[in-house]
Amino acid sequence: MIVTRPPLGWNSWNTFGKDINEQLIRDSADAMVSSGLAAKGYEYIVIDDCWSLLERDENGRLVADPEKFPSGMKALADYVHSKGLKFGMYSCAGTLTCAGYPGSFDHEFIDAATFAEWGVDFLKYDYCYHSDFIRGDRLYRRMGLALENCGRDILFSACSWGADETHKWIKTTGAHMWRSTGDIHDGWESVKKLILKQDEIIEYNGQGCFNDMDMLIVGMRGRGNVGFVGCTEEEYRTHMSIWAIMGSPLMIGCDIRGIEKDGETMNILGNEEMLRINQDSAYRQIYRVKGSGCGPDGRIYIRHLEGGDIAVAMLNMSDAERNITLMLDELALPESCGKSLRLREVWSGEEYGAKNATIRVAVPAHGCKLFRASLVDVK
Ligand code: GLA
Repeated sequence: MIVTRPPLGWNSWNTFGKDINEQLIRDSADAMVSSGLAAKGYEYIVIDDCWSLLERDENGRLVADPEKFPSGMKALADYVHSKGLKFGMYSCAGTLTCAGYPGSFDHEFIDAATFAEWGVDFLKYDYCYHSDFIRGDRLYRRMGLALENCGRDILFSACSWGADETHKWIKTTGAHMWRSTGDIHDGWESVKKLILKQDEIIEYNGQGCFNDMDMLIVGMRGRGNVGFVGCTEEEYRTHMSIWAIMGSPLMIGCDIRGIEKDGETMNILGNEEMLRINQDSAYRQIYRVKGSGCGPDGRIYIRHLEGGDIAVAMLNMSDAERNITLMLDELALPESCGKSLRLREVWSGEEYGAKNATIRVAVPAHGCKLFRASLVDVK
């Protein structure tokens, strides 16, 4: 199975944690379609941890908790599919999942077969309670092989949080996306920490094996399982901008039932220019340029897009507004080459140009300006 774009969808963990059930998943699938998010490309409905019984059955198979999922997983998968969506589930490379349910260690092939029978399209695979002797690369390779031999296309979403230098071996395992960070919480400090973590690993992004910066907190506003202090709208937009330009999978984490009534959240999750950057088919490596005015908490990220446009993110993580300046020279576009840039900011629609081959933008505290830039002739 080859996955060409960062997956888009919804996952139960950030808001619901262990409080999941069949009706919630059905309602969330309904909402994905009726809100218009499915039409924007969000297609996976993923059940995270805490869906099974604490014991396997007499044949060593995982059993869905009949109180939470009385109709069983096959019926639920069928329902999700009937909405035109894809169905995701969760397991773990250790003996137990992070919440203490049975993990897939030493049961990889039987579990992959069970998931295939149920009609699962996506498996998030965690790293708690893993063996001290068998390394992560082997554990993930084993499940990668099990999934590839289970007779069904199942997207393999590795979740080892960047531990044990995941970036160095994950592309050997068959994973289609890999968690590069610890768990997100719904607060600015958490977003900032996950962004800073990317400094060390930014060049390890890759087509077909996407760097997963963790599920989104947009729209949570301090509620739910990883709900914390919440973020401002500016901070949620910044979070979305960086996840988008980094090419991270975008897995919604808020409660999407009734989300169409929350215009601000819909605008952030549904911004088509932002999604177009995230889903760009070239998926080139992202890089940083220095610019000026950034200070220690500023970043300028660049991603060249299919067809010759360039995505630019100017990020200001400091607590005060900053004027950030990008010299076109840093994009290998000195004035002498006769080309300049015209930029369109994706959230506001504002247009910006260069003066003296520099682009100067006021970026608010905790803000990010995300641009799609096109080349123009210097007049
Ligand atoms: C880990 C993962 C989270 C979530 C929980 C479930 O912490 O990183 O994303 O899946 O386990 O227990």
